[in-house]
Order: sequence, then structure tokens, then C-alpha cells
Amino acid sequence: MKDTYFIEEYKTEVPGELDKWRVAFPPKIVELFVEEYSGKGDVVFDPFAGFGTTVSVAKKMGRESFGCEIDQAKICFAKEKLDVELIGKSVFDLDHSEYPKIDLCLFSPPYWGPALGAKTYHGYLNKLEKLSKKIETRMNEGAHLIVFVQNYKFDRKGLLTLAWDLGNVLKNHFYFEQDFIWCVDRTKSKRDMKHEAADHHYCLVFRKK
Ligand SMILES: C[S@@+](CC[C@H](N)C(=O)[O-])C[C@H]1O[C@@H](n2cnc3c(N)ncnc32)[C@H](O)[C@@H]1O
Repeated sequence: MKDTYFIEEYKTEVPGELDKWRVAFPPKIVELFVEEYSGKGDVVFDPFAGFGTTVSVAKKMGRESFGCEIDQAKICFAKEKLDVELIGKSVFDLDHSEYPKIDLCLFSPPYWGPALGAKTYHGYLNKLEKLSKKIETRMNEGAHLIVFVQNYKFDRKGLLTLAWDLGNVLKNHFYFEQDFIWCVDRTKSKRDMKHEAADHHYCLVFRKK
């Protein structure tokens, strides 16, 4: 697998007004990682399922997939347009023992410091670290965790080093196996980019220890 992917400004099936921050994954990228890091019949989990891209792509590829989402509009979109049923509760309230063990966990975290009910950036990272530790206990031997994440503009002061900070905490619990970058060519786009750091995302690949 190459470690850098270039894709053109992409369209998902999600209408722009439902996805003003453009958080929906490009299905093509999800496909590449599901293909490389899981096999048919494997269990794929997305704790922050959003519009259901991971769950839908993995299902189409013959994986058993499930994901959590708290936003009702996204849950409805996933059901009506992608034919996938997301678990409509916070992943922090999920009783993981009710679900199958995981071969591939793939997610992009909710962006924004105060997300996840944390008052500080440190508290936010801490919540994601605790969650990944919990998920790790439900992962099969050799399973992978893949996080799609950007460093991004939090305020006028500059970039928040989220991708690197998250990588740093996750490596406490997993082997950091590889990183990939995917870049979007937005040269033809008229989108307002003020909240996005760059046209590139990191894909951080971890393996269960
Ligand atoms: C960066 S988006 C993920 C987008 C997704 N990858 C897609 O393709 O649509 C993060 C998602 O996490 C959801 N979220 C935030 N807090 C959550 C929680 N506690 N449990 C589950 N989902 C949550 C948000 O509503 C948002 O849709």
C-alpha cells in the first residue's frame, strides 16, 4: 500500500447542508483501509460513525460492521440513504460486551476542544485515550485501530496539534505501525476553508499489542 493518496475534491452522498464541516469520509479512502486491514467476515467498528460511511463501506465489502452516533440527523441519513442502522447512543455509554469483538476500529474523532464534554484540550485527549483503552480490550489479537485526523485551526493563534497529540497518547496502548496521508485537491473548490487546517489528513495506524 502506498503511504500517500491524492484524491480530487470529493462528493459523498451527504448533502452539503447536512455536512457543513465536511466531516463525512470519502468512501474511496475508507475502502482502501478496510481492504488492507481486514478480511471478509471480519468485524469493523466506528465509534464516531457520523453519516455511516465506515459502517456502510465495510458492510458492502462483506464485513460485519457497527458504529455509534449521537446526532439524530446523521443516524436518519445512514438509515435512509445508506441502509445502515447506527447505534444511537454515545460510545461512552456503550456496553461493549453486547457487541462482537473487533478486528478493525476506524474513526475520525469529533473535532473541537470542548467536544466530548471535556472542559480542556487535555481532558478531551484524556477521554479519547480512555475510550481507545476500552476498545482495545474488545479487539481481537492482531487487530488494528486507524484514526483519521488533522491538525486544525482552533483559533487565530494557530494550529492545534491534534493529530500528533492523539498519536502520542494512543501509542501508550498500541503499537504505532504506520502513518499515511491523504490529500484532497481543492484547487477548484469554492469552499470556505477557514476552519480547515490543510488539504491533508493523517491516517494513523495502530496495532493491538
Ligand atoms: C468527525 S465526525 C465523523 C464522521 C464520519 N467519519 C463520517 O464519515 O461521516 C465525528 C462524529 O462523532 C459524533 N459524536 C460526537 N460525540 C459522540 C459520542 N459521544 N458518541 C458517538 N458519536 C459521537 C459526532 O456527532 C460526529 O458525527
